[in-house]
Amino acid sequence: MFNTHFVLSFALLLCLPLLFLFAPRILPPKHVKISLPDELDDLALFRRATLASLHAPGSISRLGTINPKPKIAFLFLTNTDLHFAPLWQHFFPNNTDRKLYNIYVHADPSAKLTPPGGVFEGRFIAAKKTERSSPTLISAARRLLATALLDDPLNHYFALVSQHCIPLHSFRYVYNNLFAESTQYPTQLPYLSFIEILSDEPQLWDRYTARGKNVMLPEIPFERFRVGSQFFVLSRSHALVVIKDRRLWRKFKLPCLNTESCYPEEHYFPTLLSMEDPDGCSHYTLTRVNWTDSTGGHPHTYRAADVSPELIYKLRESNTTHPFMFARKFSPDSLVPLMDIAGDVIFRD
Ligand SMILES: *[C@@H]1O[C@H](CO)[C@@H](O)[C@H](O)[C@H]1NC(C)=O
Ligand SMILES: *[C@@H]1O[C@H](CO)[C@@H](O)[C@H](O)[C@H]1NC(C)=O
Ligand SMILES: *[C@@H]1O[C@H](CO)[C@@H](O)[C@H](O)[C@H]1NC(C)=O
Repeated sequence: MFNTHFVLSFALLLCLPLLFLFAPRILPPKHVKISLPDELDDLALFRRATLASLHAPGSISRLGTINPKPKIAFLFLTNTDLHFAPLWQHFFPNNTDRKLYNIYVHADPSAKLTPPGGVFEGRFIAAKKTERSSPTLISAARRLLATALLDDPLNHYFALVSQHCIPLHSFRYVYNNLFAESTQYPTQLPYLSFIEILSDEPQLWDRYTARGKNVMLPEIPFERFRVGSQFFVLSRSHALVVIKDRRLWRKFKLPCLNTESCYPEEHYFPTLLSMEDPDGCSHYTLTRVNWTDSTGGHPHTYRAADVSPELIYKLRESNTTHPFMFARKFSPDSLVPLMDIAGDVIFRD
């Protein structure tokens, strides 16, 4: 005959596997939470950048002086070494064109980075912890944008890339393509932002409800929720829209309950810009990515053996009015074959 003690123990034993099964759902997700001091710190940076932009509208020059040319700010977002630093060193010009760009790097402070030196020397900005499935990647991108806005009023385009991204063309080619419609400077032309904005993603509803049901309302009705590539090239006016935003951020900064459908950085920027200025955006990205057979939210990764001139030519091809200018993802060991074809293929155009 079973005594009560035995029944209780048995029941407890039975419960153990259940606990393992359900614990991830019951316990709050162990993700980097944005602390109040960090939030206030960011807000202060965004305010400074916004104010500075009001007082220094970049392209205005005094009569008689040569109009300085607009620049591209390259924003590197990384949590590891910059695997392709040697390739980028080659990409960034060191002749008279060196005044046409700036570099900013946001490196996760917990990453033990080997300083890449060269053009990256002294270009690391004050960084905070980043993690997938959390709003910290949005914060890091906004920190890069704000720092670049503050740093140089001539930064007119802001290109976000990661350590897995490579250039597909020369700097000159990228520069001439971005500023093609505005050869006569100074100008206040509203530059187009190159950001993917899509509404037909099959998992969009799960991603919309990742923070709980109805929590995005009323600011973001499902019909206005968008998705797009994390990597974009924003105009100065849109970079300002992003760092001034408080309304959407209030919702996007909420922690995800369903971390499997949680990619805040792929939604925040496309949703915000499609609400604020849809006609000022290309709706496509300039960064090629291969989603065929993707696993766990990671796209296809090209390895050393895949690198060839043909691959570069193929990755450049696009169905839009602009060719692709960057590509991801490449494994670190791709560096050697990429360097081999850098001069003759990648930077020859
Ligand atoms: C300038 O760049 C070229 C090619 O990118 C390189 O060969 C050369 O060594 C660089 N010069 C300096 C001074 O860094
Ligand atoms: C995309 O990745 C798949 C494998 O996942 C590969 O077969 C295909 O060739 C890739 N496409 C391009 C354009 O590289
Ligand atoms: C361009 O469109 C064709 C036909 O729809 C498609 O097969 C191809 O994958 C597209 N290329 C890119 C880069 O999207």
